[in-house]
Amino acid sequence: MSAAGHGGAGARRARRGSAGAPSVERLLTGIAQLVTPAGPGAKRGAQQSELHVLEDAVIAVQDAKISWLGPASAWRGTAIEEVDLGGRAVVPGLVDPHTHLLWAGERYDDLEDRLAGVPYQRILARGGGIRSTMRATAAAGRDELLRASRRRLSDLVASGATTVEVKSGYGGSVEAELEALEAIAELGASSPVRIVATLLVHVPDPEERATRLREVRELLIPEAAARGLASRLDVFVEREAFSVAEAEQLLLAGREHGLDLTLHADQFNAIGGVELAVRLRARSVDHLEVSGVEQIDTLAQGDTVATLLPGVSLELGLPPAPGRALIDAGVPVALASDLNPGSSPLYSTALAMALSLRLNRLRPAEALVAGTVNAAAALGLDDVGWLGVDARADLMVLPEADWRALVHGMGGPGPVEVYAGGVRVDRDAGAETPRRS
Ligand code: NIG
Ligand code: FE
Repeated sequence: MSAAGHGGAGARRARRGSAGAPSVERLLTGIAQLVTPAGPGAKRGAQQSELHVLEDAVIAVQDAKISWLGPASAWRGTAIEEVDLGGRAVVPGLVDPHTHLLWAGERYDDLEDRLAGVPYQRILARGGGIRSTMRATAAAGRDELLRASRRRLSDLVASGATTVEVKSGYGGSVEAELEALEAIAELGASSPVRIVATLLVHVPDPEERATRLREVRELLIPEAAARGLASRLDVFVEREAFSVAEAEQLLLAGREHGLDLTLHADQFNAIGGVELAVRLRARSVDHLEVSGVEQIDTLAQGDTVATLLPGVSLELGLPPAPGRALIDAGVPVALASDLNPGSSPLYSTALAMALSLRLNRLRPAEALVAGTVNAAAALGLDDVGWLGVDARADLMVLPEADWRALVHGMGGPGPVEVYAGGVRVDRDAGAETPRRS
C-alpha cells in the first residue's frame, strides 16, 4: 500500500488550463487509495465483497458529478481548482437508508426502565416508547424540532454520510404526519447532503384503529405522494404494531400512488413481514433480528435488500440480525444507523458499519458495500454509493491511507472530510447548537 507523499490535506492552489483547453471545476488529488464498489445496483453473494482499488488516484469534478477518475499519471486535463487530499484513502460517501432523526424529547426514563429489566415492547404497550416520542414531538414547536434534527443530521454527516433517509412516523394523525414530512423537506432544502423522505406508518391508534387505517390509505398516502413529500412508504410489521394483512393493504395503496416500499420486520417476532416484503418486491426490509433460515431462504429468492441495524441489537440486547448467513445465502445486505431516541441512539453511520463486523459477522469489504451501494439500492438510487464517471461526487476522505480504518475503528479514527457534490461539507453544516447563556 503506497501512501503518496503529498502536502497537507486541503491544500489548495488555483491552476488555470492552457488557453482553450477544456478545464474541469475541481480536481481532487493526493488520493493514496481510492476504494469503491464497481458501479450501481445491489450487490449479492461474492459481489458483496468486490471492491475496486486504485492507488495514487485523482478525481475530476464537474457540475457536482465525477467527470473523470483514474491514476494521477494518466490525468491529462486541467482544473480551475486543485485540492490535495494529502495521501489518504477515499471511499464513496456513506448512504444511511434508515433513520428516524426527526423527533423531539428524549427517552431517558425508558432507558432507566429498560436497564431495570422492563422490555422495550412492554414500555410501548403501556403507552411509552414510540408513543411518548409522538407526544413530545407533537408538543414541540417546528423550530425546536428542526434545530434538534439538523444537529443529528450533522452528526451522521460528520461520520461520512452524504445521503440520509429520514422517516416520519412520530406524528400519528394525517395532519401531524404531513407536517413531519414538510419538516423533512425543509431539512433537506437547507442541507448540503441528499435527504430521502419516507412516510412511516409506525404504530396503530389503539382506539380508532380501523378509522385511522382508512385515513392513512385514503388521505395520507395519496396526499403525501401527490405533493411529492415522500418517495417511499414504510410500515412497522410487529405484534405491537401492524399485522401482515394491515400492512399489505397500506403498502398496496402506497404502490398505487407510486411510492417505493419498505418494511420494518422481524424485530421481535417473525410474523410474516419478510415474506410480505419479498412478495411485494419491496426495495428493502429492515431489522431482521429474529429472522431464521426460512426468512433467509425467502429473501434469497427475491430482489429485496436486507437492511441490518446493529445499533438496535446493541441497545436492546436483541440477537444480531444474521448478516453472515444472509450474505452467504446470496441476499444483498445493507446497513443503517436507524438513528432514533429509543431502539438505536446511534449518531454515526460509520459506527453502524463498524458494529456489523462484530455483531453481524460481516467482513470489511462487505460492510463497505453494505454502507454504500447496497444502501443506495435500498433507496432506489443509482448515482450514489460508488465512485465512477457520472456518479455524484459524494465521497469521504479517511484519516489514513488504508480505507479499513473506517470499519476497524469504532467511533473513529477521525476526523473525516466529507464532499457532497464535489464540495467540502463543513463539519457542523446546518447544525445550530443551542447555547446556554
Ligand atoms: O426502527 N421498530 C420500530 N421503529 C424504530 C424504533 C423507533 C423508536 O423506538 O422510537 C426502530 O427500531
Ligand atoms: Fe426504524
